[in-house]
Amino acid sequence: MPGDNNQRETGPILKIEGLNKSFGGLQAVLDFSLSLETGELKGLIGPNGAGKTTVFHLITGFHKPNSGRVVFKGINITAQSPNRVTKLGIARTFQKIRMLENIKVIDAMKTAFYLQKPYNVLDVLFQTPKYGREERQLEEKALEFLTFFGIAHLANDLGSDLPYGLQRRVGIARALALSPELLLLDEPTSGLNTVETDELVEIILEIKDKFGLSIILVEHDMRVIMDKGICDSIVVMHQGAVITEGTCEELQEDERVIEAYLGAGVA
Ligand SMILES: Nc1ncnc2c1ncn2[C@@H]1O[C@H](COP(=O)(O)OP(=O)(O)OP(=O)(O)O)[C@@H](O)[C@H]1O
Ligand SMILES: [Mg+2]
Repeated sequence: MPGDNNQRETGPILKIEGLNKSFGGLQAVLDFSLSLETGELKGLIGPNGAGKTTVFHLITGFHKPNSGRVVFKGINITAQSPNRVTKLGIARTFQKIRMLENIKVIDAMKTAFYLQKPYNVLDVLFQTPKYGREERQLEEKALEFLTFFGIAHLANDLGSDLPYGLQRRVGIARALALSPELLLLDEPTSGLNTVETDELVEIILEIKDKFGLSIILVEHDMRVIMDKGICDSIVVMHQGAVITEGTCEELQEDERVIEAYLGAGVA
């Protein structure tokens, strides 16, 4: 309809076309393209330094690309601010755990809700009845999320005091509190033992179904993704570029994947 600004392109929930990013002389991301269908769980793997985290930074506006396009739900979000990207429905977790230091778990959750629905500054400053009411509602909502993740009993603990596995759960719970449609997980199982890894993978599959999420799951350890067989498809990156894409079965036999990992000395 002419003049209808809400009209959106149909098709994949996320489309990345020809992204490039260099840091000085280093080409961290090279002509990177990817298409993610709604409800899809896509793995993004590649050896250390392949450019995976940089791709997440480019999607979420933490870095601006030198060229290329990121289109989310038909909206061109290339080089938008991280806040705007979050508001449009993309949430992420960080490879290096942060944001949790010296903050109680419940408060880490509540800040996610604040981001979504900021208070009127006056309400906060003067602690109006409206503020008190909404504050209690937020607390209940935060506890609901924590209960779903099996960590409600940790609500008043400091995030930084928790073991690694639980910090990762809080990180994902917090990302979900932003009500995303697309969730970007950057090595969620790194540093976890096999039991914690299995539990977290279960949680990821559960939230995908329960919240109807589309997910990109970054891993440098390809065995985590290959062994679990949880991804609908897997994109393999090496030296900034996509070298191949396929299902778990297809990639297991793919020479290029084995070479990329052997070349990086980690296979
Ligand atoms: N801010 C930056 N400044 C300079 N170089 C950077 C910056 N961020 C990333 N790089 C470089 O870009 C390349 C890609 O890094 P990136 O962190 O995206 O890799 P990765 O695939 O996430 O690796 P890992 O599996 O180790 O997390 C690396 O060579 C890295 O050193
Ligand atoms: Mg990384």
